[in-house]
Amino acid sequence: MHSKYPIGILGATGMVGQRFIQLLENHPWFEVAWLAASDRSSGKKYGDAARWRLDTPLPERIARMTVSPAEPDGAPKIIFAALDADIARETEPRFAGAGCAVVSNSSAFRMHPSVPLVIPEVNADHLHLIEEQSWRRESGGYMVTNPNCSAIGLVVALKPIEERFGIEQIFVATMQAISGAGYPGVPSMDILGNVVPYIKSEEEKMEAETLKLLGRFEGHEVKPLAARMTAHCNRVAVEDGHTESVSIKLGNKLGRPVTHEDILAAWAEFKPLAGQKLPMAPEQPVEFAPQPDRPQPRLDRNRGRGMAVTAGRLRPCSLLDWKFTVLSHNTIRGAAGAAILNAELLASLGKLEPVAETAARA
Ligand SMILES: NC(=O)c1ccc[n+]([C@@H]2O[C@H](COP(=O)([O-])OP(=O)(O)OC[C@H]3O[C@@H](n4cnc5c(N)ncnc54)[C@H](OP(=O)(O)O)[C@@H]3O)[C@@H](O)[C@H]2O)c1
Repeated sequence: MHSKYPIGILGATGMVGQRFIQLLENHPWFEVAWLAASDRSSGKKYGDAARWRLDTPLPERIARMTVSPAEPDGAPKIIFAALDADIARETEPRFAGAGCAVVSNSSAFRMHPSVPLVIPEVNADHLHLIEEQSWRRESGGYMVTNPNCSAIGLVVALKPIEERFGIEQIFVATMQAISGAGYPGVPSMDILGNVVPYIKSEEEKMEAETLKLLGRFEGHEVKPLAARMTAHCNRVAVEDGHTESVSIKLGNKLGRPVTHEDILAAWAEFKPLAGQKLPMAPEQPVEFAPQPDRPQPRLDRNRGRGMAVTAGRLRPCSLLDWKFTVLSHNTIRGAAGAAILNAELLASLGKLEPVAETAARA
């Protein structure tokens, strides 16, 4: 492989930005070359600007880097973006328009008809949408997004089921970690010993994104999955790891009733990225925990280096067909790790090459 791709991080000081730094330390393909955040941070050394919240040390090299303003001048041509949606809506198009590949975590453009919303194991073919973007035609730049942290775990677990059996209805109730709200996030007096049954816009995002992710790319657009879905989203006093209770009504693709063993086999055999050697990809995207009281965030969120989704408690549902619990790490699989895996997929498809060469010439 050629020398590493220089990459930049927008929103580098936040919860997701910090995860990017942690996960990219020693990454074989990407090297952090530029960090940007708000005016509050720009001009400062990263070590002074960021309140490092992760349980591995802030790398020395990164601590010494100066935080740049969030402007494309002087930025590398591959940008991992971890900005709040309102800021992303204005900032990300400036980078795509300046020829950058913007790999974004924010919700601002996820439902845009020509912006791919991608989980590599689920819908890599949706990346064709990049070619529909005006930025791509004008400057070579483009935008790719990863889903909301609660949609991603659900969809990774649903994809092998949808593929084999079809899905007609989805009911999900989430128990979402506080790190999902960024830092400092939910005030401790609101969440300690408590459950907050409201996360702004989360249920709408989860429903729309799930159906887009499971949808089909046809011609020049994505047709969402024609299933009915309802989501209940709750914030709970857990640091990291979103847990979800799921019930599904299946379709009839198999032509006979679907058994417990059928679903376990669908999860176990789901390895769509096998052999592609993407560094961030988990060997087993859906791990099944057979114990009756699993998955649990503290015990299972780091499976597959935080990139595997853990399913458990699979049993018949007396309202729909089957029910189960699913857990995923919200700032790794649900955010920074998801974006890095998207970028690895783009690299493996040659979609980072022109921008990387431009960066090398600059
Ligand atoms: N946390 C999760 O589990 C999760 C999961 C999936 C997706 N996401 C999404 O990822 C994005 C980032 O979330 P987060 O949890 O990391 O948020 P966060 O902790 O609040 O961090 C926000 C970042 O944006 C920067 N920023 C704020 N205003 C800015 C401006 N005007 N210009 C440039 N940068 C600005 C902040 O810099 P300063 O430090 O200088 O203020 C900080 O680096 C959000 O869209 C969120 O919805 C989060």
